[in-house]
Amino acid sequence: MILSPSILSADFGILAEQVRKVENSGAQWLHIDVMDGHFVPNISFAMPVIKSLRKYTDLFFDVHLMIDKPERYIDKFIESGADGITFHAEATENIDECIKMIRLKNKLVGISICPETPLSSIDKYLDKVDMVLLMTVHPGYGGQKYISDVNKKIRELREKMGDEFKIQVDGGINEDTIDEALKNGANVIVAGTAVFNDDIEGSVKRLMNR
Ligand code: DX5
Ligand code: ZN
Repeated sequence: MILSPSILSADFGILAEQVRKVENSGAQWLHIDVMDGHFVPNISFAMPVIKSLRKYTDLFFDVHLMIDKPERYIDKFIESGADGITFHAEATENIDECIKMIRLKNKLVGISICPETPLSSIDKYLDKVDMVLLMTVHPGYGGQKYISDVNKKIRELREKMGDEFKIQVDGGINEDTIDEALKNGANVIVAGTAVFNDDIEGSVKRLMNR
């Protein structure tokens, strides 16, 4: 299992310090949520933050683009230090182009769908990507409740893609919900509010031990 703590819930005033705690506690990835106020109602942060943070950590930068027409910015996010880029299937009419742009730079290619979007909508891309991110909340905000209806999509995808394929889940994962995500076949776990609290190290370790 790979744990990818989401900095959306971090204290941005001491971001590098908090990220170092995540790294020292054994998490392998860092989940970086980019929101544009169009694809999702909220706005977060973008390239300058990623570029600054890149100097302070060797963690794998798992960039989750919640933006319209991601093809406009994929190169810029890679230049800023992304190791993997996940874009939303619902946000672009050029899925093949997005995959190619990320592949060309030898970065991990992820495609994501919202809770209501059927798996069938990305069927034809499954063999071209390294990871599918199944959203377990409606994208846009941290601290929402895990939508258990998504469990059956996780199971279906796991059956289809075999043991090694990366299935990421994002939203509402904490010490109470992580087990159902893992049991159904998720192997890359995003957690925001469950990690960036008063005990970052302890929270990472407890989630990693599941
Ligand atoms: C939601 C983001 C998530 C968010 C998860 O749109 O994609 O990565 O930070 O936060 P928690 O873990 O608090 O649900
Ligand atoms: Zn995310």
